[in-house]
Amino acid sequence: MHRFEFHLLDKSFDRTSFDCGNILLNSYLMTRARQAQTKGFNRTYVAIIEGDSEKVVQGFYAISMGQIDLSVLPEETIKSLPKHPVPVGRIGRLAVNKSMQGKGLGQELLVNALNRIRDASKAIGAFAVVVDTKDDSAKKFYEKFGFIALTNDPMSLYLPIESIPE
Ligand SMILES: CC(C)(COP(=O)(O)OP(=O)(O)OC[C@H]1O[C@@H](n2cnc3c(N)ncnc32)[C@H](O)[C@@H]1OP(=O)(O)O)[C@@H](O)C(=O)NCCC(=O)NCCS
Repeated sequence: MHRFEFHLLDKSFDRTSFDCGNILLNSYLMTRARQAQTKGFNRTYVAIIEGDSEKVVQGFYAISMGQIDLSVLPEETIKSLPKHPVPVGRIGRLAVNKSMQGKGLGQELLVNALNRIRDASKAIGAFAVVVDTKDDSAKKFYEKFGFIALTNDPMSLYLPIESIPE
């Protein structure tokens, strides 16, 4: 069982061998993540095996701020909430190297991302975490952790901030 370290992406990390099985996620990490971060569009965090001096990326996620219109939430949730859009934290991408899949890193990445968004929400406010899933398999992964589909787009899921434990 490996232990992992989580770091903000910078050019010292080895991304060259990363392959999660999804070409778009691979190439995002390889070619776009650093530039998106420099521009302030999001932040990418990477996981490496604890103490790995080569700093080989085993998993990553990208998070940003966003907003959603409350009309896309299930009706019973909306009653007590304002009519205007509300701030959310967004998980844009999350992926694990194939050789490391099925060993708990996906869950660790998700928990790390949720904790980071929860902490940020204490400073700037956020109502929920939203994730846009790419396929049914990814959707099932998030549903397992309590994410619920938005009414306008079944591939977008949300989790209320208040349900993230301290
Ligand atoms: C989806 C992904 C991130 C899961 O990472 P992982 O490290 O393999 O997952 P974990 O080992 O941490 O699994 C945690 C739990 O989620 C479950 N799980 C993992 N993938 C799942 C899936 N696709 N559907 C349903 N449950 C899933 C595991 O069974 C495990 O549950 P358990 O603790 O009850 O056994 C990984 O498979 C991946 O990178 N896939 C390709 C990219 C992708 O689809 N990313 C998500 C969309 S952006």
